[in-house]
Amino acid sequence: MRMIIVNEQEKVFHLNNGRISYLFYVMESGQLGHLYFGRALNPEGSYLHMVEKAHRPMTTYITEGDLYTSYEHLRQEYPCYGTSDYRYPALEIQGSDGSRICKPEYQRYEIFNGKKLLSGLPATYVEDEGEASTIEIFMWDPVRSLEVILSYSIFRDVDAVARSVRFVNHGKESVFINRAMSMSVDLPDADFQSVQLSGSWARERHIHVRDLQPGISAVSSMRGNSSHQHNPFLALKRKSTAEQSGEVYGFSLVYSGNFLAQAEVDNYQVLRVMMGINPFGFQWKLDPETDFTTPEAVMVYSGDGLNGMSQQFHRLYKSRLARGYWRDRERPILINNWEATQFHYVEDDLILFAAKAKECGIEMFVLDDGWFGARSDDRHGLGDWYANMQKLPDGIEGLAEKIEALGMKFGLWFEPEMVNRDSDFFRSHPDYIIATPNRSTSHGRNQFVLDFSRREVVDAVYEQMYALLSKAKISYIKWDMNRSISECYSQAYPANQQGEIFHRYILGVYDLHERLIQAFPSLLIESCSSGGGRFDAGMLYYAPQGWVSDDSDAVERLKIQYGTSLVYPISCMGAHVSACPNEQVGRRTPLETRGNVACTGAFGYELDLNRLSSEEIEIVKKQIAFYKENRRLIAEGNFYRLCSPFETNFAAWETVALDRQRAIVTVTRILSEINGPYRRLPLCGLLAEQKYHIKSRFLSYDAYGDELMQYGLMLEDKSSGQVIDGSGGCQDFLSVLYEITAI
Ligand code: DGJ
Repeated sequence: MRMIIVNEQEKVFHLNNGRISYLFYVMESGQLGHLYFGRALNPEGSYLHMVEKAHRPMTTYITEGDLYTSYEHLRQEYPCYGTSDYRYPALEIQGSDGSRICKPEYQRYEIFNGKKLLSGLPATYVEDEGEASTIEIFMWDPVRSLEVILSYSIFRDVDAVARSVRFVNHGKESVFINRAMSMSVDLPDADFQSVQLSGSWARERHIHVRDLQPGISAVSSMRGNSSHQHNPFLALKRKSTAEQSGEVYGFSLVYSGNFLAQAEVDNYQVLRVMMGINPFGFQWKLDPETDFTTPEAVMVYSGDGLNGMSQQFHRLYKSRLARGYWRDRERPILINNWEATQFHYVEDDLILFAAKAKECGIEMFVLDDGWFGARSDDRHGLGDWYANMQKLPDGIEGLAEKIEALGMKFGLWFEPEMVNRDSDFFRSHPDYIIATPNRSTSHGRNQFVLDFSRREVVDAVYEQMYALLSKAKISYIKWDMNRSISECYSQAYPANQQGEIFHRYILGVYDLHERLIQAFPSLLIESCSSGGGRFDAGMLYYAPQGWVSDDSDAVERLKIQYGTSLVYPISCMGAHVSACPNEQVGRRTPLETRGNVACTGAFGYELDLNRLSSEEIEIVKKQIAFYKENRRLIAEGNFYRLCSPFETNFAAWETVALDRQRAIVTVTRILSEINGPYRRLPLCGLLAEQKYHIKSRFLSYDAYGDELMQYGLMLEDKSSGQVIDGSGGCQDFLSVLYEITAI
């Protein structure tokens, strides 16, 4: 199938995979105009009549004598500052003369099957060339001799278009890129609500919806990491759009640093959406014959509601963004000692801890913070990636051997980008941190950020990590990042390149990941940034799973995981059962609920199993057996959000196996109710004519798929006020798993 159709005469480019279309054209001036993005249009059609222009008073026009053509009321594809458009541009280039005008004009295009990788940056990819088609549009600014190459890839099996932009300076002088968005699109109306994933530390990625108004709605980060506060994602939905129905556009940036995602409604109700590196604090000096590539942005269109959008992102991100050895492999169930011990342990404690985990069926022991240098609390040791021999007399090698001898894999925590002043590393390289001369340097958790924009700094960290990873049996690393960047400045770069540091920093982080992956291809990396401070599509390219949040309370996790699932696949969400009362919120929740919530993710434990009763250990063993039996389904299946904890007293979701022979439904009621209604929950994604058996704690019945999807799954808790499980205890926070199996 031809997925890119070019109307040579009209200079219209039509990306079409049979389900979605994306159309743009070359305007008379040579710049690109946007025509359409949405459900597929006829590839034979001609669409230039969609361009509307009128004489409007108080407008600036491009050419003398023409009172119709203004960029202010033309929908554009990659708008530049200063050519009669007063909305925010996607691009701003500054020349050595101080001018900020740039006007790249269309030159030619190239189409090829497949998709290129982006050098040094994460990006979606294909495994065979038929999976995507790419068009590159070559633009040229004659005044600056600047080449701008806009790249668009449309996927055959996913309703997504991936975009990025490359700049090559063919001029004799350097220019400065002040702003270079990864994508921009002008949609023809603004009758949308924007959906964003925002929050804070331990409350990441809550869903927030707002009606668009004239002006700008934006989310961004200027912290150096994509942040707990806002995720590099934005969706635009119609007011009537629901989970399973209605129109929605999703935009996701494959990037882990400062970003901006904004929607601007102009005075003609045109909606300009753009996304890319945050222009705040950014300026890139582009020397003659050098190039710069923006991160990739992925645009999804769904006519099947928010869930339809999420499924497109999930499919693309779990199989064509995540990569490597672990992408399709069953992830090990792990136990992490952090919440149980914090910094305070010696080797014997760890062995007991791991042995109990092994007895329950856990497959990997992860040693968290505190194992290295002089690390006794968060004031010391970061940067010294060698074992603290008081705690671990046989070093990491010895401990790893002992864990392996128990029949488990061993994983280890690092925080490669950070340093404490009290460390050998800092003492030998005090100039390696990010700090602005003659200014104070803020600390976060008593630590400082290493200047990863410098190759020699990344090398020094790599050498330490490489040495340890090559001599000890380490199967997994948890890569943490516990503070944002302030006073951004690098001692290694001149004044006119300081605007590059935030971006160069992230390139350094990606480089270290890449080097480790190349050196240790079967190493499983879990990303973490005080929980979910860098939980983004960029990290997924290097680390197929990420610690969703430092909040491990099952009730808090309902919203966090539900929100996260808007974009990110279940297989990448690190989710653990932790102790009660919960360390972050002090809440007590049933062990079953903690297991049910955590098993919708990359499952693990975060508590000392030696402190549980024998009854609780039996529950843990059952949870582990259940996860082992179902982890492939959970990781590979289609995920449906059924009931929102943001809007109701329930959170419910469902994962359906790809062959639709089996599904798992998780229903969690947050607060107990008295004499509530009989409830049914319409399911999704089953085969209408297939008969299924439904099994939960107290229910067992058979029903056809049509009944389960129309009438709904009958929920077992009638909330009559009688405690039917005989526990006699608090009935808040109850969660039930329903297994639906074709018979
Ligand atoms: C923050 C992480 O999110 C925690 O899980 C833990 O690893 C601590 N850092 C250790 O310092």
